[in-house]
Amino acid sequence: MSWQGLLSSLKNLLSYAMLATVAPPAPKTHQPALPAIPKLSPEEEKLALQEKLGRCIQGMRETFILDLSTSNELLTEVSQYYAKRPSKLMRPRLILLTALAVNASVGERDALPQQVRLAEIVEMIHVVSLLHDDVIDESDTRRGDLSAPSKFGNKNSILAGDFVLGRAMSLIAALENFDAMREIAGVVTTLVEGEIIQAEDSIALGEKAKAGQAADQWGSYMERIFLKTGSLFARALRSTAMLSGLPSDDERVLAVGDYGTELGLAFQIIDDALDFKETSVDSAGKPTGAVDLRLGLITAPVFYALEERPDELAPYVSRKCSEPGDTAEVVRIVRETSALPRTYALAAQHAQKARDALQVLPSTPARDALEALTMKVLSRDQ
Ligand code: FPP
Ligand code: MG
Repeated sequence: MSWQGLLSSLKNLLSYAMLATVAPPAPKTHQPALPAIPKLSPEEEKLALQEKLGRCIQGMRETFILDLSTSNELLTEVSQYYAKRPSKLMRPRLILLTALAVNASVGERDALPQQVRLAEIVEMIHVVSLLHDDVIDESDTRRGDLSAPSKFGNKNSILAGDFVLGRAMSLIAALENFDAMREIAGVVTTLVEGEIIQAEDSIALGEKAKAGQAADQWGSYMERIFLKTGSLFARALRSTAMLSGLPSDDERVLAVGDYGTELGLAFQIIDDALDFKETSVDSAGKPTGAVDLRLGLITAPVFYALEERPDELAPYVSRKCSEPGDTAEVVRIVRETSALPRTYALAAQHAQKARDALQVLPSTPARDALEALTMKVLSRDQ
């Protein structure tokens, strides 16, 4: 074809394209108008969101339990042991709500299959951390029942944890997003770093308390609660947002990461306050309360109580509540000081920062639910 021929074909093509864009609308037929979709009230929207979330969580939980089965009966039983227990499934809920809140900003109404998968993977990693943690902490009970190591032995609890981690790793590839995959791999290394710092703090505690330097550990406390809870929430939520197709430096990715960090800190600080709620004896005959202190760890309530009654509290701290009656005494002293209200105030500051971080997302029922979660974390009693 000559170049003049080519030019004329291009002109024709161009005019067709222009015609297509300015084509008159199709003649109106006399069909009855479709009824307009009724606008839901905020209360109805909230209910619809809860239903959607409930269905999604239910489906995820079923797949989760199925994905932890294997041909070996014992391995299946130990791996599924915590997964089958009633639980709040806080991490998957958080991931799915974040998915809905972020997806709304890119014109997507539902959580994507990869985001539902991520919720499952993160819950698996959480289960691994519990199977291993109950061995490290020598915990006899979890959620009011025997812990996995008490029921199946330390060896089986550790091996089942390794197995669940392997299953989680095999699912990571399904995310098909390298940034998200890197973040999730980082969750595991960060949890382990947190545990090591915790073990070091525990060894150092006796000496520090004797020398009246326990307060030096405040910084280390904040670092370890970030590593064991805040970082997991942050990484999981950043991955969720990246699975919506957002780049890792997008302000929405960073915002949900900040929300995760702050919510995780608030969650853990309240956990530490609940350790001083009361003291009694658990089903294994061990005293409840001041659990961390007995493991050699100072948490926010003890830091605050030490400021007010250092001489009275220090001996219990340095001997890690090892004598009969110590636990009850420490719980009594902590409760007599302003330590618990101050601990709640600290958690409330982090909850506020979490809410502030969300403001870059569009206002939706999912964002409202994420905001409400920051209040729920503060008022939880278990
Ligand atoms: C519970 O804390 C423990 C954790 C949140 C993290 C434990 C992490 C590990 C054991 C590292 C290994 C992890 C993996 C994924 C390989 P806690 O003892 O204060 O709370 P608890 O009362 O629930 O036991
Ligand atoms: Mg523990």
